[in-house]
Amino acid sequence: MDSLARTLPASWFCSSPLYQLERKGVFQKSWHFLGPVTRFQNRSEKIIYEIAQTTLIVENRSPPREGIDTEGIIVYPEDPALQIQSHLTPSGLVFATLSLNAPSFETYFEGLEQLINQVDFTKLPHRRSISYEGRFNWKTMIDGFQECLHCQYTHPTFTKYYPPTFYSVTNHTNFSQHLADPSKTSISDGLFLYFFPICTLNVYGGGISSFRTLPNTKPGVSRMEFDYYHEGTEEEFEAYFKFVRQVALEDFELCEKAQVNLESGVYGEGILNPNKENGVAFYQGRVKELVYKQYEEDQAAKELEGKIADLRVGSGGEDVKVVVAVW
Ligand SMILES: [Fe+2]
Repeated sequence: MDSLARTLPASWFCSSPLYQLERKGVFQKSWHFLGPVTRFQNRSEKIIYEIAQTTLIVENRSPPREGIDTEGIIVYPEDPALQIQSHLTPSGLVFATLSLNAPSFETYFEGLEQLINQVDFTKLPHRRSISYEGRFNWKTMIDGFQECLHCQYTHPTFTKYYPPTFYSVTNHTNFSQHLADPSKTSISDGLFLYFFPICTLNVYGGGISSFRTLPNTKPGVSRMEFDYYHEGTEEEFEAYFKFVRQVALEDFELCEKAQVNLESGVYGEGILNPNKENGVAFYQGRVKELVYKQYEEDQAAKELEGKIADLRVGSGGEDVKVVVAVW
């Protein structure tokens, strides 16, 4: 049993100080998926993303013209004092960071472009976006996305088309690929991608959907944001929308109930199924690693501050010049 991965403790889903470590150690050092280029074609619309209390704005500044424009898409922080990175993949997906503390896109998502370049994301137009708040920690939702053990009893309609018997998750560098049905040779139906920490991209049911689970400063609250892309008629889109919304609503209910258990103290921690919950073990492991690293960095910074204060006292309050290494 020792070799089996364990879940994060329930306290990690309910703690404000822990969230502040996640904010600095995870969110500020990650790449976040914003959308396919088709999301950013309306020249008069600024798309606002609030991710872990940092606001990014995306707009398309090219003059209006026929077809899909990628040249004019720019991503910038609302706060002009901040600096960020952004990246457009050859297949038409836009990603951004919240600071300059994240590694390069290629290092962060090693091998991702090779996989997603098989799909042309410039084809399906944006049809609808919705957003609402949920009473659960962001990790409670990602736990559910990263495994499909719950699918059979929670998603009866979904499992009819994508049977959980074959469902498997492959973990890569900061992303996971879910394989719903190996008999489907095309990855343009049944492609589910998770981008660590909070974004997903789902190609199934004839359209593309993407969701973000945005953390609130209150650890038991998140905001769900969904974007839907489809090229069918109004009627075809509504049928697709109904199908995918059903799955999302079923997950939402499950997460609110799971959070009640996490907060009530009836659950501490458990072990994870090595085959069916390897996606959960993967992303929770990343959270743990980055939170620990942030904690150590913060502790080291505090110790250094203490030493500088001691030197000031020792020198009778005169200004002391201290040269420190910046890492
Ligand atoms: Fe689910």
